[in-house]
Amino acid sequence: MPENQPTHSMLSLVGNTPLVELPKLAPKSGIRIFAKLEGGNPSGSVKDRIVLAMVEAAEAQGVLKPGDTIVEASTGNTAIALAFVAKQKGYKVRVVLPRGVVPSMADVLHLYGAEFEWCEPSGGMRGAIEAAKALAAEEGVHELGQFTRSENVDTHYRTTGAEIAAAIDSVDAFVAGIGTGGTIMGVGKRLREEFPGVKVIGVEPRLGDRLQGLRSLAEGYIPPLLDLDTLDGRFLVDSASAIEAARSVVQSEGFLAGVSSGATLTGALRVAERMDHGNIVVMFSDGGWKYLPAQPWDAAAEHEERLDEVHWW
Ligand SMILES: Cc1ncc(COP(=O)(O)O)c(C=O)c1O
Repeated sequence: MPENQPTHSMLSLVGNTPLVELPKLAPKSGIRIFAKLEGGNPSGSVKDRIVLAMVEAAEAQGVLKPGDTIVEASTGNTAIALAFVAKQKGYKVRVVLPRGVVPSMADVLHLYGAEFEWCEPSGGMRGAIEAAKALAAEEGVHELGQFTRSENVDTHYRTTGAEIAAAIDSVDAFVAGIGTGGTIMGVGKRLREEFPGVKVIGVEPRLGDRLQGLRSLAEGYIPPLLDLDTLDGRFLVDSASAIEAARSVVQSEGFLAGVSSGATLTGALRVAERMDHGNIVVMFSDGGWKYLPAQPWDAAAEHEERLDEVHWW
């Protein structure tokens, strides 16, 4: 028997991602930083986990059958994950994207043959969610529902959080970006059970004027899955700092991480300032390749305003 057997199912490749130490980014000798590399999921981001879980839950409830259409609002990664899972399982996909998402997200969806429509930037992500809801109601089709369904949190508790706990002896701080809140709520709960005393820290993007909306908690909107009382801290990270930090990962460790990974790393380094020693785990929710056509690195170096007009994550 050959040692490495081929895999017969793409869907079986979802999850079980590596946790890797980033020694060159440790700011002091007692601090160790570990990244959970989600870019290796088959469609390229952490969102494969929740989409698969939500689709399978809907199937188990009998509300989806092959050939049906699934609708969702997304800034890109969830839409791409949905397009992937739908190909595997035989569903059609319709996605609502807020204008201002990274253009290559739409290019990938086009390649998949997924139908998508744009929502005006003034409504931000909240506008896109409302548009997806209206579409699902009008057409009588299934809405995936990443912002409201409990499977989003549960799957991070069962998989992402459990994988981290199995890979490392202790976690002193966990840092994740906040979009729907699914990652930080699910992984945070699991790590608190396994490592009492762990600090669970959220990172939010600072959105620019044109796209203020759902995920800028400072604006007063809290995603329904997010319970702020369970977090030990939150940082706002602007796009230029996130992009610069993502660049520092390439330059020091040679790994091309996505923009939100730069944001979580920035958060981790701020947490490290208050610690003498300990293990910090950060989410690297996707890789950096699909951001390259938008040329964020040059714009960040020149502090261009357009940085704040893009939904980077
Ligand atoms: C690249 C990236 N990082 C982080 C997040 C935030 O994850 P969550 O929705 O679980 O809060 C998202 C969600 O859109 C994302 O696409």
